[in-house]
Amino acid sequence: METVVSGIRSTGKLHLGNYYGALQNFVKMQNEYNCYFFIADLHSLTTHPTPSDLNQTVRQVVVEYLAAGLDPEKSTIYVQSDVPQVAELYLYMNMNAYLGELERATSFKDKIRANPNNVNAGLLTYPVLMACDILIHHGIKVPVGKDQEQHLEMTRTFGNRFNRLYQVDYFKEAFAFAYTDKLVKVPGLSGQGKMGKSNGDADCIYLSDAEEVVRKKIMRAVSDAGPTEPNQTKPDSIQNLFDLMKVVSTTDTWNHFEDLYNRCEIRYGDFKKQLAEDMVLATANVRNRINDIDKDEEYIKKVLKLGAEKAEASASKTIKEVREIIGLKRFY
Ligand code: ADP
Ligand code: TRP
Repeated sequence: METVVSGIRSTGKLHLGNYYGALQNFVKMQNEYNCYFFIADLHSLTTHPTPSDLNQTVRQVVVEYLAAGLDPEKSTIYVQSDVPQVAELYLYMNMNAYLGELERATSFKDKIRANPNNVNAGLLTYPVLMACDILIHHGIKVPVGKDQEQHLEMTRTFGNRFNRLYQVDYFKEAFAFAYTDKLVKVPGLSGQGKMGKSNGDADCIYLSDAEEVVRKKIMRAVSDAGPTEPNQTKPDSIQNLFDLMKVVSTTDTWNHFEDLYNRCEIRYGDFKKQLAEDMVLATANVRNRINDIDKDEEYIKKVLKLGAEKAEASASKTIKEVREIIGLKRFY
């Protein structure tokens, strides 16, 4: 079975876009690949979170991913900092990562432009740590979007450079992996394009939003005075609601409101009410599971212990081999 590795940034709650656009694919991948999913808490240190914020966000991400269907029996689900071998490999790989290439990384340039007062070495070597996340398990498929393409290219560079330096054929090349070519795009509630945290909380339906919150957000979504001509093109702030309805409602329901719109008979109050109820229903399972798992400290502990053990087994084998290749051999 081919190995898939994916790091999950430990920031923020998951929204409907993350769920339909990414997570549902992760859930399916588990049956076909040897998957490692981890929370990238070491990467988060580059921004200096407070200890309680860091701990809290890691926990939240774990709860939400489990609730959405990541299965600790099928996949290896772990917290990056629970596997110290990753940090050890990072030290070795840093010796062959050059300042010039690290400075040229787009993500580094973006970060230092945004935070000129926190240009730390961890930020500079972020791609090295990411490479180690993948190389430590010999991952070859990495389900990430376009923004991570350059990091994957660097991962291949570091792996190949190691192979060349020590004249081994040890690390494999990893590539971005699109599980499906059917890209789902979930629009936001504000009509500004795809649902995203950066558009604000009112744009997003979070998986952890309570039913009342989901209803309120949808009822408050921007609409207009209604169509005045039959079969009129919809403005963005109406089209998005229809697109959301396509994601969570039945085809019959969608057709019904589409017809009403085209006949200029739609009443947005009814339309939104239906969308809200279908949304509440579509997300009920995950929401209930978030609430259940969140209360179950023992389960969270058990999952992360199992994950750390499985990840460590794979990582310590790599470290042992790497130390040997490098010439770090014990004399006792
Ligand atoms: P945000 O845009 O809210 O910051 P992220 O960049 O953290 O979200 O998203 C992580 C992954 O979730 C993306 O790589 C993408 O696959 C998926 N995703 C995010 N928003 C959407 C969306 N609105 N529709 C479809 N997929 C999305
Ligand atoms: N850099 C990735 C992001 O910003 C997160 C990440 C860290 C990652 N390590 C990884 C993703 C390893 C895939 C594989 O989303």
